[in-house]
Amino acid sequence: MKIVKSIKDLSVYRKNKFVSFVPTMGALHEGHLALVREGLNCADICIPYIFLNPKQFAPHEDLEAYPKTLEADLEKLEKTGAQAVYLPDADEIYPDGFSTSVKVSGISEMLEGEFRPHFFDGVATIVTKMLLQCLPDIALFGEKDYQQLLVIKKLVSDLNIPVDVKGVPTMRDENGLALSSRNAYLNEEQYQIACHLNRILSDISKGKINENRGREALLEAGFDKVDYCTVRDAQTLLPPDENTTERRVLAAAFIGTTRLIDNLAMSQ
Ligand code: PAF
Repeated sequence: MKIVKSIKDLSVYRKNKFVSFVPTMGALHEGHLALVREGLNCADICIPYIFLNPKQFAPHEDLEAYPKTLEADLEKLEKTGAQAVYLPDADEIYPDGFSTSVKVSGISEMLEGEFRPHFFDGVATIVTKMLLQCLPDIALFGEKDYQQLLVIKKLVSDLNIPVDVKGVPTMRDENGLALSSRNAYLNEEQYQIACHLNRILSDISKGKINENRGREALLEAGFDKVDYCTVRDAQTLLPPDENTTERRVLAAAFIGTTRLIDNLAMSQ
């Protein structure tokens, strides 16, 4: 597997190839590898990137604590069959004097945007830069970060970036917990609590309980704080109205200092 370090080498390497691109911040798990496998299915070569993007973390968030597992990540990518990985240094991405930020109004200001106001500007900025550096044919993102997927689709459309953005269904463990690098922070007792998130969202998605009951159920299950637990229009993320054709239930909740998010399509 080729390790590409610079923007120039990336553009030389990807030239004349039909490329899929998988953005990651490292700490790779099966969810990331599923994106790479899908990328390999739909393009000649798949290039994941690993870049722990400081701009999407607020000062009080877990940038320092974020798991850094580069050697294991490279091994996993190699085994999965990725032909190359883009591994730029921070000064390649944010050189001295870097002063541009990409903001996607509307869709990035609700839900995650309300509780993590810096987050989507950081994500939109890095993803725009990376897409322009690689100019892939296809870019793959997990549906686990559903709002992020919509924000990226919107920025690609608004900025006419010539890439097809593809969402890939969430990978779950045997207990239904959505795979996330942050699951590594959970001890056994917290893990048992975390497994309720998917079950409660599943009950909401099937119409067995409503979103208010879902919020209560999360607290009863042991979550310490619920940022949101809500059913939204799956395209706009606004509260559903008469034009809504698909709905999605989304939630974010804390166990101790670990914040978990998940979402499911509503089946009715
Ligand atoms: O989902 C993530 O891991 C990150 O937000 C992304 C898309 C790689 C941007 O840093």
